[in-house]
Amino acid sequence: MTTSVAISGTGLYTPPNAISNEELVAAFNTFVRRHNDAHHAEIADGTMPALTESSVEFIVKASGIKSRYVIDKTGTLDPAVMTPRIPERPNDQISVLAEIGVAAAQQAMAKAGRTAADIDGVICAASNMQRAYPAMAIEIQFALGIQGFAFDMNVACSSATFGIQAAADMIRAGHARALLVVNPEICSGHLNWRDRDSHFIFGDVATAVLLEAADVAESDNAWEIVDTKLKTQFSNNIRNNFGFLNRTAPDGVGQPDKLFVQEGRKVFKEVVPMVADMILAHTGERGIAPTQLKRLWLHQANINMNDFIARRVLGRDPVAGESPIILDEYANTSSAGSIIAFHKYSEDLSAGDLGLICSFGAGYSAGTVIVRKLA
Ligand code: COA
Repeated sequence: MTTSVAISGTGLYTPPNAISNEELVAAFNTFVRRHNDAHHAEIADGTMPALTESSVEFIVKASGIKSRYVIDKTGTLDPAVMTPRIPERPNDQISVLAEIGVAAAQQAMAKAGRTAADIDGVICAASNMQRAYPAMAIEIQFALGIQGFAFDMNVACSSATFGIQAAADMIRAGHARALLVVNPEICSGHLNWRDRDSHFIFGDVATAVLLEAADVAESDNAWEIVDTKLKTQFSNNIRNNFGFLNRTAPDGVGQPDKLFVQEGRKVFKEVVPMVADMILAHTGERGIAPTQLKRLWLHQANINMNDFIARRVLGRDPVAGESPIILDEYANTSSAGSIIAFHKYSEDLSAGDLGLICSFGAGYSAGTVIVRKLA
């Protein structure tokens, strides 16, 4: 008999520092004014375009984002720096990424009622790894005292759902009893805080889920994984060219392609139908009518995208709470977004209720996880 797998615990680490749109725009506009003053002559003779100020109203209307959490607020908001200042750590300390991942993982373990001795591995699934190796996942495994194996994987904003499918498959195959999928995202490090089109998009956070065989799950908020589906389709519309073959400091000055860059409009237009069709095809294959889904925990990149997808899937406007939004408080937290929504808005549902976790992002990549509440 095939082992049925459940998500039996979730965890969320939220950094202590928040930046409101007002603070963000004030710092950005000071940077713009200083830049334009410093380059007054070139701007006047037409050899350099003037930079344009950002606006709080635009950000809320275009994205639904009102605030974001960050690991370092000071460097990010200093108009002369505009990048997070997160000191490198000596080799005898675990990375910042692993540290926030551990905090989320500990919560997921506590929720599931599991200790390190019950768990056989860790997948660190995130889009912004702090270094190439040793793996952040192995640091997390070490810090938690878990025996077994751990590895990192990166599928950009879709990393969490790809990690969930990988973990569920390994548990089903008998390669592990329980696995942690951890999504620490320090998105402030890859964001170009000097770019008006995208400076408001991202925030920092860490999430974690614990997966184990459904028949041993003891948590009062355990969700059986009914099915998972993954999809990728090449696109240049979201890119970050930073890597170890181009090691100049990625501070965005003069080399913005070593930070996050996107064609936001194209992403919007291409990804909305791709994801809506994928959800409809996946639920259809399982004989589930979209209206049977009690909740959609969608990737959190843009409120208008989420509204479009929910409307296409449900065939009507989502009612309050049906497709929860955490963007206003957290902004886009890459792979962690849909898991934050799931963590915060799943306990109120009842045994037997169906829901869907869905991620989408660079690659393009998209993942759907259909879940049914066990207890
Ligand atoms: N403040 C004020 N105005 C701004 C601005 C800012 N910070 N940034 C852009 N604008 C202006 C533009 O100059 C443009 O003005 P124009 O019409 O006079 O030329 C106008 O606002 C519209 O710009 P546009 O970039 O087309 O905005 P948009 O409505 O597409 O919204 C995004 C931008 C990024 C919020 C939106 O495209 C989006 O979310 N796309 C999907 C992103 C996504 O999911 N990415 C995945 C990442 S994982």
